[in-house]
Amino acid sequence: MSLLVNKVAIVGDEIHVPISSDADIVIARQQGRALAERIGFTGSSLAVVATAISEVARNIIEYAKRGEIVLKPVNQGGRQGLTVMARDQGPGIPDIALAMQDGYSTAKGLGLGLPGARRLMDEFEIISKVGRGTTVTMKKWVR
Ligand SMILES: Nc1ncnc2c1ncn2[C@@H]1O[C@H](COP(=O)(O)OP(=O)(O)OP(=O)(O)O)[C@@H](O)[C@H]1O
Ligand SMILES: [Mg+2]
Repeated sequence: MSLLVNKVAIVGDEIHVPISSDADIVIARQQGRALAERIGFTGSSLAVVATAISEVARNIIEYAKRGEIVLKPVNQGGRQGLTVMARDQGPGIPDIALAMQDGYSTAKGLGLGLPGARRLMDEFEIISKVGRGTTVTMKKWVR
């Protein structure tokens, strides 16, 4: 069962936001923030989650043109949290360790998006294959 509201697809407990324009980044940010609030995040952690979502969504636009952000509550051992997945079928990242370094950019950016998102979240993983695409999975726990 899935429900489609303004491009945002609700699939079970997942929220899928297709990303192909700057406006979609705003939607992903808002949906992420709203879900984080429902999960129990408060205060500055809501902005932290929104910022991390913006960075990975912006990378989708910049490097892959299109993709999606999937937002999902996670409960592990009684701990509540939010999972953010950013996936695309773009060019992929040849050297993930390099891409994760502060200041590394192939696009005249500050090169702080990925390392910044990693610092903002509690768990961070990138799977990428050149010519196939990239999936960034990040989790943050409530407290
Ligand atoms: N989804 C992606 N697909 C392909 N390459 C990516 C993707 N996301 C990041 N990269 C690569 O990793 C590099 C580092 O990304 P990061 O977001 O840290 O910095 P940036 O986008 O270059 O600059 P900033 O985010 O600070 O504006 C990018 O320059 C790009 O080469
Ligand atoms: Mg970036």
